[in-house]
Amino acid sequence: MQISQRLRSMPPYHFAKTAQLIAEKRAAGIDVIPLTMGDPDMPTPDPVIDRMCQAAHDPANHRYPGYYGLPELRKAMAGYFARRFDVEIDPDREISIMLGSKEGLAHLPLVMLDPGDIALIPDPGYTTYLMGTLIATGKPVTVPLTAERGWLPDLRAIPEDLARKAKFLWINYPNNPTGASATRQFFEEAIAWGKEYDVLIAHDNAYADVTYGDTRPLSILQIPGAKEIAVELHSFSKSYNMAGFRVGMLAGNETVVEAFKTLKTQIDTGMFNVVQHAALAALALPESWLRERNAVYERRRDVLVQACRDAGLELTTPDASLYLWPRVPEGESSHDFAMRLLDATGVLVTPGANFGEHGEGYVRIALTAPDDKIDEAARRIASFQSSKPAENANGAKPAKRADGTKPAKTPKAKKPAQV
Ligand SMILES: Cc1ncc(COP(=O)(O)O)c(C=O)c1O
Repeated sequence: MQISQRLRSMPPYHFAKTAQLIAEKRAAGIDVIPLTMGDPDMPTPDPVIDRMCQAAHDPANHRYPGYYGLPELRKAMAGYFARRFDVEIDPDREISIMLGSKEGLAHLPLVMLDPGDIALIPDPGYTTYLMGTLIATGKPVTVPLTAERGWLPDLRAIPEDLARKAKFLWINYPNNPTGASATRQFFEEAIAWGKEYDVLIAHDNAYADVTYGDTRPLSILQIPGAKEIAVELHSFSKSYNMAGFRVGMLAGNETVVEAFKTLKTQIDTGMFNVVQHAALAALALPESWLRERNAVYERRRDVLVQACRDAGLELTTPDASLYLWPRVPEGESSHDFAMRLLDATGVLVTPGANFGEHGEGYVRIALTAPDDKIDEAARRIASFQSSKPAENANGAKPAKRADGTKPAKTPKAKKPAQV
């Protein structure tokens, strides 16, 4: 008996390793404050819970759900696009429910790719773009995101022959891990580029509803003609503090959405009706709920941005998303910096290299810990000596990493080609 090659060559999801590291440090008596996962800490709003409890008592909801979701939910989802972005979506043909948006990231490659087909994925980026492509036995090719370009890919730098062969391109703004936002102009360019080369533009808009100040969320579907070549994914986890519920939506190009729905009929037999009722209640929440929730994240953002600057770390203040993305001191790897910070302060952040080669040189800090933990983490970071200790700065290698590990290597089978 042998496990498939695609599974054997799959590295463990990095947050599984993080959980182990936290447990070890806590067992050693360290007061660890993890600022690692983008797992919203605030409770799901009461109207959502109430509606869910009510629905749970109805035996009709205990049977298999319909394959395509409750028609009233798809209608309410289309209503969200109309209200939020002034985008018209046909609830019967242009939208699909998803069991969390990660489901779409993992399954969309099965819809679009035959074995060996090329998917263009951002580096740094959320790791499921890469893994979903590998599960579908597609060929991932990374497109670099750099600080100089505001973490937006340079689509015109993608060689023409590669662009012609590619089947789809993942983009994600507000961005994980960099916290960058896209401009409408970038979305226009992406749609034009996708049409020119017949490449599906798959926009992961998981953080659409986590915005600060006057920032208004954008949808790529706002660009005229976008539905000819694009789909967009949304996550109730981030929008409504519903990570445990597993609700997302995929909207846009009808052919892709229909194929996605067909694939799902063979995999998951729909979404628990009780959860769909909860999603309906979430979509009916007033705008004020979002504003108040985002104000909490915004305060945390400001406290941690200041703490990073006090520690001498360079960073841009993000106007959306759940992440800060400070630069680590010159000459130190993101992993070594994260371990040094952990050992000195107990604050755990994610090395940028976990999100791809071009994430090296940065760490990601998530805003998803309760306020008192954020304030305590900020106090500790502010007094952290961020520049490397003198013996390291002189070029001498530290004897051993603080956690005893070796530098992470992307397994050979996994390493995607690069543009
Ligand atoms: C960019 C991005 N896309 C998708 C997801 C998955 O979210 P969901 O809980 O909807 O599956 C995440 C989760 O962190 C994310 O950061």
